[in-house]
Amino acid sequence: MVMDPIKNPYSPGAGSQPPELAGRDELREMIRIALERVRAGRPAKSVLMVGLRGAGKTVLLDRIRDDAEASGIQTLRVEAPESRSLPAILAPQLRQALLRLSRNEQAKDLAQRALRGLAGFAKALKVKYQDIEVGFDFEPEPGLADNGDLEHDLQALLEATGAAAKKAGTALAMFVDELQYVEEAELAALITALHRAAQHRLPIVLVGAGLPQLRGRMGEAKSYAERLFDFPEVGPLPPLAARIAIAKPAEDEGVKVNEDALQCIIQKTQGYPYFLQEWGKHTWDTATQSPITLRDVEVASTAAIAALDESFFRVRFDRLTPSEKKYLRAMAEIGPGPHRSGDIAEQLGREVTSLGPTRNQLIAKGMIWSPSHGDTAFTVPMFDEFMRRIMPGDDWKT
Ligand SMILES: Nc1ncnc2c1ncn2[C@@H]1O[C@H](COP(=O)(O)OP(=O)(O)O)[C@@H](O)[C@H]1O
Ligand SMILES: [Mg+2]
Repeated sequence: MVMDPIKNPYSPGAGSQPPELAGRDELREMIRIALERVRAGRPAKSVLMVGLRGAGKTVLLDRIRDDAEASGIQTLRVEAPESRSLPAILAPQLRQALLRLSRNEQAKDLAQRALRGLAGFAKALKVKYQDIEVGFDFEPEPGLADNGDLEHDLQALLEATGAAAKKAGTALAMFVDELQYVEEAELAALITALHRAAQHRLPIVLVGAGLPQLRGRMGEAKSYAERLFDFPEVGPLPPLAARIAIAKPAEDEGVKVNEDALQCIIQKTQGYPYFLQEWGKHTWDTATQSPITLRDVEVASTAAIAALDESFFRVRFDRLTPSEKKYLRAMAEIGPGPHRSGDIAEQLGREVTSLGPTRNQLIAKGMIWSPSHGDTAFTVPMFDEFMRRIMPGDDWKT
């Protein structure tokens, strides 16, 4: 069996669906149950999946959304960017969902009412969130979601939307990726609105994903948030699942992977999904025939690391200021972490307090997070090794 590069099944890339979504069945099932409970008017918590970069949150979110759509649940999906407001990204998607609901005979009137609410919402909030751009299908209904106060208006809007979804016998699941980038006041409004909808048993639920700092950010926005949501962790794949992620797609193409080759990939990638895809891809391209051998993996590793350096790591590095790079390089000097702020400061010959602003910027950019008070960790797995590769030697100290 000769290896065909055209048939290479692996798919490294942010948000690219893997050939085999390994190790996530339990979480998918848990969320499926939550969504069905919400549709049935039973209490269920919204779900926020947290994990490091490249752990597979986005593809999981998309897969769960497909599952939900297939079972007749209404969905919308947005990604929170660093620079736009939540109402601005939510409004157009909500409009689409409401237009779909309005095609349901039963729900038509309520969906149209919610669309009026959306018009009022967008008009009233336009002053504060100038980035809101949404088509108006109906005139606003005076007094409905048009106070100009996000917390109040989002609540009213989601209530009207939930009422329409309920009447249609469905639920609305809102899929929001990169939720850690949402401003605190906007997060607070979202939490309040979901809380209210849940109290009224309205079928509206959030399925979010974000970096590990999301959990703390939710708690800061509303102290009761931690009780209102489940925060399942999307981590590296355990060895058995990591094996399947590599072996199954190859097998589907009639290619076998030797046991020691699999073990080597698992060990080098530590089970991180992004790395698994990258190693799988380069190993396939290196191998000349089935079975894939340990030697193939060893040779492919150089190319896999180079590819990661050029894309996965590089896009993050390029967004950093010189002082941020220096901070991360100092962290890398003392290993994968988490690290004490004092130890990082010591590497830089600085006071902890003087580094506060840099650390905060890095947290806002989603590069680091604080697993516990005074601790700092990378949000990108193996970023320490990358930093040492890209800034070798001692020059960064000066
Ligand atoms: N469960 C999984 N099994 C195998 N590969 C996966 C799995 N989850 C994600 N991947 C792969 O990992 C990479 C990163 O996935 P992505 O969802 O973008 O991660 P995140 O959103 O957490 O940064 C993609 O190439 C994807 O195909
Ligand atoms: Mg993602």
